[in-house]
Amino acid sequence: MTAVLSLEGVDKVYKVGTFGTGELRAVRSATFEVRAGEVVSLIGESGSGKSTLGKMVLKLVSTDGGTLRMGGKDVTRLRGRALRDYYRDVQGVFQDPFSSFNPIYKVDRVFDTVRRSWFPRVRRQEWDQRVHDALSSVTLRPEEILGKYPHQLSGGQLQRLLVARALMLDPKVLVADEIISMLDASTRIDVLNLLVELKQRGIAVLFVTHDLSLGNYVSDRVVILYRGRVVEAGDTRAVFDDPLHPYTRDLLASVPQLDATWDEVEAREAERSARLAGTCAFHEADPSAPADAEGLVEVADGHQVGCFRLGPDDACPRG
Ligand SMILES: Nc1ncnc2c1ncn2[C@@H]1O[C@H](COP(=O)(O)OP(=O)(O)OP(=O)(O)O)[C@@H](O)[C@H]1O
Ligand SMILES: [Mg+2]
Repeated sequence: MTAVLSLEGVDKVYKVGTFGTGELRAVRSATFEVRAGEVVSLIGESGSGKSTLGKMVLKLVSTDGGTLRMGGKDVTRLRGRALRDYYRDVQGVFQDPFSSFNPIYKVDRVFDTVRRSWFPRVRRQEWDQRVHDALSSVTLRPEEILGKYPHQLSGGQLQRLLVARALMLDPKVLVADEIISMLDASTRIDVLNLLVELKQRGIAVLFVTHDLSLGNYVSDRVVILYRGRVVEAGDTRAVFDDPLHPYTRDLLASVPQLDATWDEVEAREAERSARLAGTCAFHEADPSAPADAEGLVEVADGHQVGCFRLGPDDACPRG
């Protein structure tokens, strides 16, 4: 299967500090691809650069290095009509559905905006039919949704409504950034099942999450991010069944256990930070990180891991 979207050595550097003199390298040389009809999960802790990557894909923020390609074309070079097409082909849905709506307008307005911007020539009657179809495709009943204000709908309904809005543009890629985090268990399943359906329609989904179990549930492949770097990537089963990078192993080991107390969780977290700080070449504070630490090495078919350096028991896969 060919990649719809591919990133190669992509960087993002934010200007920070009072006069913008400081630099924060939020994404470092990220390389991965998303194919048609596939869900790829971007997994990592808070601040690891997941949303930044999503925003770069959506062209909401610039890329500061590397190449981002869509259907083989360099996205940074797109201008005019081609750029407009890109903004249509790549759609995003974000964490907090409430913030995507203006509380003083009925929710229908999001569809009117789409019509004005993209389909001004479609007649009202046909447009209404399209809206109905889009809502039905995300298992919403139009008569229960249309004409309501955002506060009259649940988070799950608003989230699905945003997906319906994105689908009206017939996107090739959907960036779903923590869209499930705010939902309760039963609505989560609805939205997760919706993602599976999008896959079946051939849409490439980049699913951003800090929740390992969600990544495991929905994705064909996973990309594990640590401090802006891809530390491990591959087929979901390969990575989850045989995690190689110490960070991935820690992530898997720290999946919340119902019987763990908060003190135990905190102690484990402190131990993990201390351990990674001195040993992992990916750790920012490690001055001895090898120069080629950026790259990934293919350890098995469909399973890549970043370079790391540990004691003799955990030899680096690069040898
Ligand atoms: N506009 C910005 N200006 C400066 N720094 C930023 C900006 N946006 C993000 N950052 C920083 O870049 C890093 C990565 O942020 P990002 O939002 O991509 O993380 P994330 O993995 O999505 O985290 P979370 O799980 O909390 O959403 C963080 O250190 C963050 O503080
Ligand atoms: Mg984020």
